[in-house]
Amino acid sequence: MDLRKTLFLQLFLSTLTFSANNYGCCIEAGQKPPSPYIIQLQASNTNQTLVVRWHANESHLQEQMEHYELQIARPDHVVSVYSMSVHPYGGDGVHTLAWTSPLPLECADHSVRIRSFYDDSISSPWSQWTTNFGLLQEPAKTTRIYPFDQVMLVGTRPLLCCIPPPGANITQMQFNKVPYPLISIGDRVKAIEADNLTIPNGTFKRMRFSCTDSTTSKNTSIIFPSIPPEKPRNFSCETSDLKNVICTWEPGKEDYLLGNKKRNQTININLPNPGNSGGQYKCEESSCKFPVVTGLEEYHLSLLVSNPLGKQSAQYSFNISDRVFPVAKLYRVRRGVTEANVYWTVEGWLSPVELLCQVTLNESLAVVRSGSDEGGFQANMSGLLPNTLYSPRVRCGLKGKTPGKWSQSMPFSTYPLVTLDLWRRINQFSNNSRSVTLIWNLHVPGSAGEAVIQGYKIQSLQEGEFHTTWADTGQCQAEISIGPGQCEVTVQAVNEFSIPANITIPPVEAGERPVVEQQVTFRPQLSWTGEDWFTCGYTVEWCILGKVPCALQWMKLPRGITSLLLNPRDYKDGVKYTFNIYGCTKNRHKLLEIQTGYFLELKPVERPRLVRPVTRTSSSVTLEWYYNEEDPTHPGSIIGYWVTVKEVADLGSPGQTSELFNVSVMDPRRKWVTVEGLQEDKMYQFHLSALTKAGSGPVMTTTIKTSSNFLVYWVKILTPLAFLLSCFILLCHQRKT
Ligand SMILES: *[C@@H]1O[C@H](CO)[C@@H](O)[C@H](O)[C@H]1NC(C)=O
Ligand SMILES: *[C@@H]1O[C@H](CO)[C@@H](O)[C@H](O)[C@H]1NC(C)=O
Ligand SMILES: *[C@@H]1O[C@H](CO)[C@@H](O)[C@H](O)[C@H]1NC(C)=O
Ligand SMILES: *[C@@H]1O[C@H](CO)[C@@H](O)[C@H](O)[C@H]1NC(C)=O
Ligand SMILES: *[C@@H]1O[C@H](CO)[C@@H](O)[C@H](O)[C@H]1NC(C)=O
Ligand SMILES: *[C@@H]1O[C@H](CO)[C@@H](O)[C@H](O)[C@H]1NC(C)=O
Ligand SMILES: *[C@@H]1O[C@H](CO)[C@@H](O)[C@H](O)[C@H]1NC(C)=O
Ligand SMILES: *[C@@H]1O[C@H](CO)[C@@H](O)[C@H](O)[C@H]1NC(C)=O
Ligand SMILES: *[C@@H]1O[C@H](CO)[C@@H](O)[C@H](O)[C@H]1NC(C)=O
Ligand SMILES: *[C@@H]1O[C@H](CO)[C@@H](O)[C@H](O)[C@H]1NC(C)=O
Ligand SMILES: *[C@@H]1O[C@H](CO)[C@@H](O)[C@H](O)[C@H]1NC(C)=O
Ligand SMILES: *[C@@H]1O[C@H](CO)[C@@H](O)[C@H](O)[C@H]1NC(C)=O
Repeated sequence: MDLRKTLFLQLFLSTLTFSANNYGCCIEAGQKPPSPYIIQLQASNTNQTLVVRWHANESHLQEQMEHYELQIARPDHVVSVYSMSVHPYGGDGVHTLAWTSPLPLECADHSVRIRSFYDDSISSPWSQWTTNFGLLQEPAKTTRIYPFDQVMLVGTRPLLCCIPPPGANITQMQFNKVPYPLISIGDRVKAIEADNLTIPNGTFKRMRFSCTDSTTSKNTSIIFPSIPPEKPRNFSCETSDLKNVICTWEPGKEDYLLGNKKRNQTININLPNPGNSGGQYKCEESSCKFPVVTGLEEYHLSLLVSNPLGKQSAQYSFNISDRVFPVAKLYRVRRGVTEANVYWTVEGWLSPVELLCQVTLNESLAVVRSGSDEGGFQANMSGLLPNTLYSPRVRCGLKGKTPGKWSQSMPFSTYPLVTLDLWRRINQFSNNSRSVTLIWNLHVPGSAGEAVIQGYKIQSLQEGEFHTTWADTGQCQAEISIGPGQCEVTVQAVNEFSIPANITIPPVEAGERPVVEQQVTFRPQLSWTGEDWFTCGYTVEWCILGKVPCALQWMKLPRGITSLLLNPRDYKDGVKYTFNIYGCTKNRHKLLEIQTGYFLELKPVERPRLVRPVTRTSSSVTLEWYYNEEDPTHPGSIIGYWVTVKEVADLGSPGQTSELFNVSVMDPRRKWVTVEGLQEDKMYQFHLSALTKAGSGPVMTTTIKTSSNFLVYWVKILTPLAFLLSCFILLCHQRKT
């Protein structure tokens, strides 16, 4: 057989690994080189591998490449040929070839021989055949099947073989319950070539392969298609307590192996002192736990992962102090209104090494506390907002090192803080008797919850005597009677945390000059004249005039502010407001200014009422009317009245009027007007309305006829008569003469 041709045919069947060491020498020209000799032929049945180790037989060695040819044969034919060149660098002249057989080694005897070449043309004689015997000759009563219950690489097409017992023949071979054509290996042994192995879909990731012999006895092997382990990724370690180190990694694709075929992983600690032992730990699939090595700072770890198809390793080195990530756990929060005490432990931390912990409320770092865990850690947080939800979290670490993970949060809300904005109205009945209406607004800043108010406690102190009354939860005002002296009033919400509000009612002071009311048109800005000595600022109170009772509202302003920006949207058009401005000293409030007016005036809505009878002459009419120009419910300040005079047409076209002229009265208190220049005995219509800046309101209409002037009448009639009479007298006189 042409060996080189066989080489090309057979190479694809084989897997080759090769390593070589050598030392150089020389060879005489024309001399036939000596045969190399096989030192060892080792078989590994589990991975169907034969390892050939041979020696070059030193006498012909040289410094150039060495060339060898190996033949691997079963009893009937050569199944594999290798031709290979080896670097002779150093070594002891021993070379190795690992050959993986397509056929399980149990099913046939495999022999190996070797020769060397010099210059490609001169070859040494073949060495002796060295044989690894299969199990053919072993006595057995039943059919044996190979590979038997073995893990095999996914993607290969393995040869499966059966050895019948003496006197029987193999009649059928099935893979996955499908019969396959039999291949004869020698006289008795039969084989089949299985399909490309894949991991089955079912629950059991395995395949069955069976042999039936002529005695109808059957043997079955289970094949576990699998993959070699992948290189572990993200291999890293840390400790949370300086007692145990925990390492983790990503193991890669699953290999579906179970039981004693399962993937194994071990960690080796490469200790600096080789004398130290005990640095090996068996691990879980993707994690490992082992105790810290006392006194060891720098760790060098190897992780080894193996399964029947191969092995992989990963390395990781670290300084233990860089990998300390304590696990902090909040266990209690004691809350207050603006402060909270936060308590936590660090799991398993018994080390005397001091920890640095950070506590955060809502991502903003608040407190750093150092200490070692003697009955827990705590931090006092202050400056919190009342009635606000906080989610504290904590983390700890070694000083100057990366801290551990943030703990779970333990949300809590600070208690609501109730404050009252207190104001008053003093109702003076006589010099000795007064009542005070106390009004307040509740302020509960924050949004975490509702404040539960059980009521209000009202205390007054006058002339050394205390009086206490109570108001219900729903109330926001109370009335108390007081005497003429100064009175201190305190109102407090009955609640867990509330701040009392107080106000001083000044004594009755006789002879005080009343404050003059100013009529103004409110612009968005309300301003007043302030004084420096109003040390606790100003209070502006306002209400809508004309509504009884007036819904009092107020606003307190700090010292130095003497104007208030009003939002016109909060105020109604055509409504009269009054703003009282108080200055405050020592919680006593002194009325400084009263400003009354409108934001926007509208036309009047009331018509004047005529006073009858109406005074008239033949040329004038005097209208007089009633109108309450002071009424604060008017939608504008009454600035006067407007009269439109119209002439009523003759009876021939009744109802027809034509406007003659207008008369205005620009004094709201003058409620009469004399319309002059009218014609006698004529019908006139008068339209009277009140006026504001916005215009005139609804009209009062009346029709009045001017009186006839008898003198004129008679003058009109008597003048021609007198003329005629004069003429007659004149004529008579002339006739006489
Ligand atoms: C080495 O080669 C010589 C010459 O061919 C031969 O006689 C000898 O047996 C060989 N040695 C071995 C161990 O095979
Ligand atoms: C086959 O198995 C042997 C021993 O079990 C081992 O030394 C060898 O490296 C394996 N060969 C391959 C290619 O896996
Ligand atoms: C099947 O084959 C295996 C390996 O060849 C052998 O160990 C076993 O005894 C056989 N079982 C039967 C029932 O023949
Ligand atoms: C085996 O089958 C898989 C999937 O069916 C395929 O990806 C792979 O190429 C096949 N291998 C061979 C050697 O046929
Ligand atoms: C086995 O096969 C051989 C040849 O094919 C035949 O001579 C022999 O009789 C067979 N034995 C049995 C038990 O069938
Ligand atoms: C597994 O299932 C997929 C589709 O579900 C199919 O294509 C594939 O052939 C199946 N493989 C085996 C080994 O049964
Ligand atoms: C593994 O490490 C890589 C690179 O550091 C990273 O991108 C990846 O997210 C890590 N995987 C996991 C699961 O942490
Ligand atoms: C894994 O370890 C177990 C027990 O130490 C052993 O029996 C088994 O053969 C090992 N498996 C591999 C794939 O190394
Ligand atoms: C450990 O720390 C030493 C010095 O503190 C440093 O030289 C070394 O590089 C560190 N090793 C690792 C793996 O971080
Ligand atoms: C925190 O406050 C509590 C009581 O409110 C007090 O007993 C404790 O000493 C304080 N702790 C620190 C660290 O200030
Ligand atoms: C704190 O965080 C919580 C939840 O994230 C949030 O509801 C709350 O409003 C935050 N409080 C402050 C003061 O930011
Ligand atoms: C009254 O309230 C003011 C603040 O509004 C406060 O400064 C003062 O101490 C209080 N007085 C009393 C007696 O509560």
